[in-house]
Amino acid sequence: MSHQYTFETQLLHNKHKFDPATGGVSVPIQHASTFHQPSAVKFGKYDYSRSLNPTREALEEIITELEGGVRGFAFSSGMAAISTAFLLLSQGDHVVVTEDVYGGTYRMVTQVLNRFGIEHTFVDMTDLDAVEKAIRPNTALLYAETPSNPLLKVTDIKAVSAIAKKHGAYTFVDNTFMTPYLQRPLELGADIVLHSATKFLSGHSDTVAGLAVVKDEELANRLYTLQNSFGAVLGVQDAWLVMRGIKTLSVRMKKSQESAKKIAEFLKDQPLIKNVFYPGLADHPQASLQLRQAFGPGAVLSFELENAEVLARFIELVRLPVFAVSLGAVESILSYPAKMSHAAIPQDERERRGISDGLLRLSVGLESADDLIADFEQALDSIGILEAQKEEV
Ligand SMILES: Cc1ncc(COP(=O)(O)O)c(C=O)c1O
Repeated sequence: MSHQYTFETQLLHNKHKFDPATGGVSVPIQHASTFHQPSAVKFGKYDYSRSLNPTREALEEIITELEGGVRGFAFSSGMAAISTAFLLLSQGDHVVVTEDVYGGTYRMVTQVLNRFGIEHTFVDMTDLDAVEKAIRPNTALLYAETPSNPLLKVTDIKAVSAIAKKHGAYTFVDNTFMTPYLQRPLELGADIVLHSATKFLSGHSDTVAGLAVVKDEELANRLYTLQNSFGAVLGVQDAWLVMRGIKTLSVRMKKSQESAKKIAEFLKDQPLIKNVFYPGLADHPQASLQLRQAFGPGAVLSFELENAEVLARFIELVRLPVFAVSLGAVESILSYPAKMSHAAIPQDERERRGISDGLLRLSVGLESADDLIADFEQALDSIGILEAQKEEV
């Protein structure tokens, strides 16, 4: 309906702009688990809410339109969406997974899929030769997360999808960090786009949800069967919260991204910061690829302090961001990947992947960028004074 409009307008003016029954300017929350059927010979569209629920369906239609797919599915968490999509694979299949993938996805691939005879290879997906080399005759899926979590490495979605196609494999892309406001993987060749809607899409640290959008009907029918069989569907209250979050997605992403750029520039000049990882920095190895395939670098960055001790001090001193698991919220969130999102990856493996004990991930919220920078500055200054005193003793 709304393809002539810009993305910002589409966020608000879609099929679910108002309730056709009442004119209510909000999608009604339909709590019913079951639906009365008109006769024994003909059932209505809805029969049972695991299979289809009008509130969940509204969210599924909205995300389908925003990602440019044919059909969308809402799940009880990002991991439920990702795990259910992985169930499209069968025993004997092999998957190639991006190396610094989200810890929960790592755990599912290494501790669950392996028990069902699905093999995996992790590769640095910024290296397309390595991707090619990892392909085996039974490779059924290439799984990318871009920019990756937590090191913000950028995978060329078009190139990886082309490699997958050449070998008869699917491409799934976790688009959590970008959202369709910044990146549309299906338009770049991916078959399924996945989200932890817990993050930027809902945006307020108050909902756990997952979404999947599929590019073609045949695959969509298969994923629907899995959603209905596995049953990890999103509840209606949460579906409503995600829809409310989506209405303000563009303004939130725009503001957070602007602040993230300023903060990354500030952090990169700080002597106590060893590295800043952000695809919006000119010296990021895939900065131009990011600009080619997405509309911006996003609102998540990570940076490395000297070691775990300095990191602990920084966390004690910093006042504005919450120190928590998760990202993509109105408030800035500082996370400790080694102990939080990526704790499921064994330490030696984590270190080999560059996820050190001094690495912090920052998801930039809607506070003033100047206030956030001043906060980081006072924390770094205090650490600097303490370090200088230590040296004097
Ligand atoms: C990139 C990414 N994908 C998937 C997930 C999993 O989503 P959820 O926590 O909603 O299950 C997360 C959660 O942190 C994530 O950051």
